Amino acid sequence: MTPADFAASIRTIADYPKPGILFRDITTLLGDARAFRRAVDELVQPWAGAKIDKVAGIEARGFILGGAVAHQLSAGFVPIRKKGKLPHQTVRMAYALEYGEDEIEMHVDAIVPGQRVLLVDDLVATGGTALGAVKLLQTCGAVVEAACFIVDLPDLGGSQKLRQAGVAVRTLVDFPGH
Ligand code: PRP
Ligand code: MG
Repeated sequence: MTPADFAASIRTIADYPKPGILFRDITTLLGDARAFRRAVDELVQPWAGAKIDKVAGIEARGFILGGAVAHQLSAGFVPIRKKGKLPHQTVRMAYALEYGEDEIEMHVDAIVPGQRVLLVDDLVATGGTALGAVKLLQTCGAVVEAACFIVDLPDLGGSQKLRQAGVAVRTLVDFPGH
């Protein structure tokens, strides 16, 4: 599928969650068997046959894709959650939101130092969430091979920030504008 095909499978909702925002709703892509299959296949394509130990998915939408990607690569899955949801000892990282900040966390023993990890989420906008997740993984000794997203909002600069931080980025479709 081309980027235009992926774009066509994603619904855009104007003024959600607030006026002026165009919300890119991937539930329509997920509900389309062919688009979902192709999105997972194309996200993992550079790592087919590579040794990826773990796929880390970011709550919540990154869990849907991350589980499928981990299965496809025969890798383990690591949930990166919003704070307060994980039962065992965790490590936490603050990350920037549009206004203010929040924290994400993962289990302290989720990664064995030196393991090769792919980070997966549905979308990169400002990159605050993904950069926080990369730092969290690296703090635990992960070698972050790349960050993979279906959607890039390039004008918000997140994918560029990730690349500047030395993280390879794979995305399937860009939506210019905000
Ligand atoms: C959205 C999206 C990414 C993040 C991208 O998640 O799913 O995780 O924002 O934004 P950023 O690049 O500016 O950090 P959200 O926090 O809305 O929550 P959800 O996945 O739980 O719906
Ligand atoms: Mg999210």
